[in-house]
Amino acid sequence: MEKQEIRTFGRRHGKKLSARKESLVRDTLPTLCPRAGEKIDILEIGFGSGEHVQELATANPDKIILGAEPFMNGVAALLSAICDERGAVLDKYKNIRIFPDDVRIVLNGGEFSFDEIWILHPDPWPKARHEKRRLLNADFLNLLSKNLSTDGKIIIGTDHWEYYDWILEQVKKTNLCETKSPQNIIKTRYQKKNMAHTTEPKYIILARCA
Ligand SMILES: C[S@@+](CC[C@H](N)C(=O)[O-])C[C@H]1O[C@@H](n2cnc3c(N)ncnc32)[C@H](O)[C@@H]1O
Repeated sequence: MEKQEIRTFGRRHGKKLSARKESLVRDTLPTLCPRAGEKIDILEIGFGSGEHVQELATANPDKIILGAEPFMNGVAALLSAICDERGAVLDKYKNIRIFPDDVRIVLNGGEFSFDEIWILHPDPWPKARHEKRRLLNADFLNLLSKNLSTDGKIIIGTDHWEYYDWILEQVKKTNLCETKSPQNIIKTRYQKKNMAHTTEPKYIILARCA
């Protein structure tokens, strides 16, 4: 990143990885970085353990999906789910690419033209003193807009309604507008875990204003 960005995520490492996951991170992960000149169609930001990235990959076999996630245990979980016992990526997941770090490093290059950008359950940072850590501020939304194709869409889901309202306020300061076009959305691990405690998530679907 050119300037020092405020950190929007928690820890990068959790409990020690199994031997299989360690070897997947060491040997397979480097083969899944975005390839030079390759058109990447869909970006998922903060994929957690990657269930939704897997869904996107199988639902869109002709598209390339890039997942960005700085939490290495989540990255390792996705690798474990998409690779066979020898560490080779299963055929149905060959369209997945992984960026194991802050997505802003990728986006600041400004070289992408995504048709879809997904952000499901971004960290809400609910305490007032942490608000500056919220990823989906106006600057970040403008950065997404720069990396969106002409008809591209940004799909945001959150069950934190105060954050939802805050994001809509941020959108007003950008060249993005809400669109009502329907989107097929599956439940992520985070969402399933929280179903007992929260209400249904709300979604914001954005496109560049006409
Ligand atoms: C609450 S979790 C949700 C995970 C997943 N989307 C789900 O719904 O299960 C938010 C995720 O966003 C990731 N995240 C936060 N800031 C990020 C950034 N700047 N770039 C990429 N991922 C980020 C965090 O590491 C975390 O895994």
